Amino acid sequence: LNIALLFGGPSSEHEISCATAAGVMGAIDRQKYNLIPVAITKSGDWQIGEDDAAKWALRKGNLVSVEPNGSKVSFATDGSRELFAIDHQGARTSLGVIDVVFPVLHGPYGEDGTLQRELEAVGVAYVGNGVLASERGMDKELSKDAFVAAGVPATPHVVIRLQDWMNDPESALEKVQLLGGLPLFVKPARAGSSKGVSKVRSMNDFAAAVETAFKEDDKLVVERGIEGREVEVAVLQGRGSDAPRVSVAGEIIVTGRDFYDFDAKYQDEDSVQLVIPADITAAELQEMQSLAARAFDALGCEGLARADFFLTKNGFLINEINTMPGFTPLSMFPSLWQASGISYPDLIDELIQLALL
Ligand code: DAL
Ligand code: MG
Repeated sequence: LNIALLFGGPSSEHEISCATAAGVMGAIDRQKYNLIPVAITKSGDWQIGEDDAAKWALRKGNLVSVEPNGSKVSFATDGSRELFAIDHQGARTSLGVIDVVFPVLHGPYGEDGTLQRELEAVGVAYVGNGVLASERGMDKELSKDAFVAAGVPATPHVVIRLQDWMNDPESALEKVQLLGGLPLFVKPARAGSSKGVSKVRSMNDFAAAVETAFKEDDKLVVERGIEGREVEVAVLQGRGSDAPRVSVAGEIIVTGRDFYDFDAKYQDEDSVQLVIPADITAAELQEMQSLAARAFDALGCEGLARADFFLTKNGFLINEINTMPGFTPLSMFPSLWQASGISYPDLIDELIQLALL
């Protein structure tokens, strides 16, 4: 089968996507799959990507990104699912008819339904969530509303839009007061990997946090900091009637940093410990798995997702769902499946097979 691996892309999580692509390049079954890497630049241009796991791997202090290389890649517009490379003169070379697109992109464009809509127009099968689930999953306002409507308790939040903040900051601040205290987390509504996120311990820092978050998105969510353990589960499901399968739980323990921010996630691994399986009771695990399955269905997810929770003294609160979680071999998503009996290469295989259902 011809698999187009799409990675990079115009989002602040570009480099994380390259790292995920490196993982897939290193582990995909080459007997079974012909891999065609398509690197997407930060400006959103599709080009031929080097099939080189070492080149794209995440290294400490060195986040690799896609540099424009002059090539251009695009799908045929005639429904044939044929992918072409186009040179400077406009001459086309076929890269093959694509059976499955594997879009390992995070953040806006690749994870918010935009790319999924393009792939629907091409008529090609693709790994992961469809247009609507991707759009809802990327948007922390829409997803929390859907979770609460489905009976999954979510972290309390208020929404601030750029125009509200520009026109009437006093009212925005009054809304924030409703959260009832500090600390606060100020987050772009549609971003990931903690890009643009600040923890606010004093209202003197609030305006700066809002400015930082508005660099990522013109809509923000402000949440009250939650006292609790950070626990996550992974979900897999094909199209159709199969119930979502939910992995064992993992816990994130951050030491010596303010919170699980971008650097803790990707650059300062010494400050983070992933405990898999998490030390929770069987009853807690069961509850978490059932909440995750409900949250997955609430967004209309298919394929895969990682559901992130806080375990508080009053039970679980869902923080978010990631419809294309990072999955370098060391990431939480594949590690959770590894501990649940699915190895990293088998997980890649499974995701491709689910896309073909
Ligand atoms: N947004 C990052 C990639 C994650 O959820 O793992
Ligand atoms: Mg998260």
